[in-house]
Amino acid sequence: HSPVDQQTAKPVPTLPDAQTVTSVRHWTDRLFSFRVTRPASLRFRSGEFVMIGLMGDPDPTTGKQKPLLRAYSIASPAWDDELEFYSIKVPDGPLTSRLQHIQPGDQIILRPKPVGTLVHDALLPGKRIWFFATGTGFAPFASLLREPETYEKFEEVVITHTCRDVAELDYGRKLIEDLKSDEMMQELIGADHLDKIRYYPTTTREESPRMGRITTLLENGTVFKDLGIDRIHPDVDRAMVCGSLDFNTDIKAILEGFGLEEGANSDPKTFVVEKAFVG
Ligand code: A2P
Repeated sequence: HSPVDQQTAKPVPTLPDAQTVTSVRHWTDRLFSFRVTRPASLRFRSGEFVMIGLMGDPDPTTGKQKPLLRAYSIASPAWDDELEFYSIKVPDGPLTSRLQHIQPGDQIILRPKPVGTLVHDALLPGKRIWFFATGTGFAPFASLLREPETYEKFEEVVITHTCRDVAELDYGRKLIEDLKSDEMMQELIGADHLDKIRYYPTTTREESPRMGRITTLLENGTVFKDLGIDRIHPDVDRAMVCGSLDFNTDIKAILEGFGLEEGANSDPKTFVVEKAFVG
């Protein structure tokens, strides 16, 4: 266990860029979320990612240890005093096979250099924003859904989440339920603003009220019929996309088919894409 500062009773960082785990929650045997302390100097925009990880095993010849780092979207909003992450567990994944065992009080490495394209600055103003996520691609939207700017900038927020099984939707479903019922959130964001959220979960491998890949449901018009929306239109709609490489490619083509164009921080347009961390 880590040493403790006698004055503050807080653990003393022993790793470079160390942060302390404050809570861990396992959602399924493939998914978990956790919260860590936030470096006092860390500023970020809701939707950005940072590199996090653990010390790797010692090199067999030199005995030197190197940090094992991966890009993780920050799932908590910019105003939160802790940082939250949402992760897959890959049994033979170099990082997640170990990261999945972290406990409150443990330390992780967090490089305090936030970056990313899933930020409001990379989009032109619009009326409705779509968040398209698969699997752990929900993470940046867990941040953006708790970000007041989302509701100040848009009249309607549609969040779609496609997972294999119903249980894999739990993290997102609970987050949105809590968001709508939480008094602090209602005060911060406004209860009427929170009513703008339209949640559209789908599963592909387990029976649920809405089955199928979101890409299919967009192409055959089911999403629009279900939500009472005409179509995606470049004058009205903006989108952020986060999922696997294949998912991102497919959604990008669909959005471009509706006349949307991919933007970036330096060149805001009508949609932005980022790959979810998958291993
Ligand atoms: P499917 O079960 O049909 O592969 P994963 O858990 O593998 O990261 O996948 C998360 C979800 O994303 C699954 O429901 C999966 O559907 C879906 N998915 C994977 N690839 C695509 C794609 N190219 N377009 C739409 N959905 C996809």
